[in-house]
Amino acid sequence: METPSIIIHGGAGSAIGDGRRKKVRNALGRIRDEVWEILADGADARQAVVEGCRRLEDDTLFNAGTGAVLQSDGQVRLSASMMENDAGHFSGVVNARRLRHPIDVARFLQDERDRVIAAPGVQELLRELEIPVHEPVTKKRLKKWAKNRGRNVDSATDELVADDDPGFEDGHGTVGVVVRDTEGRLAAGTSTGGRGHERVGRVSDCATPAGNYAGESAAISCTGIGEDILDEGLATRIAVRVEDGLSLPDALRRTFDEAERRERSFGVIAIDDQGDIGWAKTSDVLLSAWRSDVGRGDTLELDHGTIVSEPNATSGGTT
Ligand code: GLY
Repeated sequence: METPSIIIHGGAGSAIGDGRRKKVRNALGRIRDEVWEILADGADARQAVVEGCRRLEDDTLFNAGTGAVLQSDGQVRLSASMMENDAGHFSGVVNARRLRHPIDVARFLQDERDRVIAAPGVQELLRELEIPVHEPVTKKRLKKWAKNRGRNVDSATDELVADDDPGFEDGHGTVGVVVRDTEGRLAAGTSTGGRGHERVGRVSDCATPAGNYAGESAAISCTGIGEDILDEGLATRIAVRVEDGLSLPDALRRTFDEAERRERSFGVIAIDDQGDIGWAKTSDVLLSAWRSDVGRGDTLELDHGTIVSEPNATSGGTT
């Protein structure tokens, strides 16, 4: 039995104020510790990812599950995925409506023949699984959507796009959980409401191996601008680099040097097969918290420019 490792995130994007930072720090710290305890009690990696994502999906601070952002037509559509390196299966759900925990559906699909299901078939699947109807729209998100929609009243609904910089509370707040369990299995899960005000039918990076991946040597969850993440094939790119022999910090460094040159905006969290934790970002902030045999910490104060963690995620270790 080895000491488990966990890193979770609640999004990446523009800087946040002290008040919001405090709330996010409390939420991420609590969820990280609850799920770490579950892992320490012997839960397997996939179970821990589900436990972590469910808690983050329930917290309206984040853009996933209840409290997710609304799309251009005023509906919330949720996407989530997971992967574990033992089974080696990627599974995901794309643009599902009226449910509480999209990560549960991703978990169910892990053992199915058809493993990534999008709308409209996803609604049939929810009925088949007898998943109770849940309305994830919150008053706060609805008000914000209506305000932004008002500014775009001359546009056809399906041509609306997000503001260039909708601010942290709108588009950025995807959640993710990456773990290494006591048996050494790696898993990653990611869940999102998308970018906000996007065209109906847009597919987020979240339920693709660009946004979430667990290979033999590393597991990764991404957050930030989905199109940037897709363009880089981000999670898979990092995982393959580690599998091909780069250390996790070197794989992150190389990948984020490229991302910086291409002016991408995103962040990642990762764990390698030794249980070492890494993170990196090009955005102003990455909201993440971690715990392993070297201790625990978070990345909330690391708020300027591109940052890649040092080995073992020693707090504040940056390049
Ligand atoms: N990374 C979440 C999204 O862009 O949909």
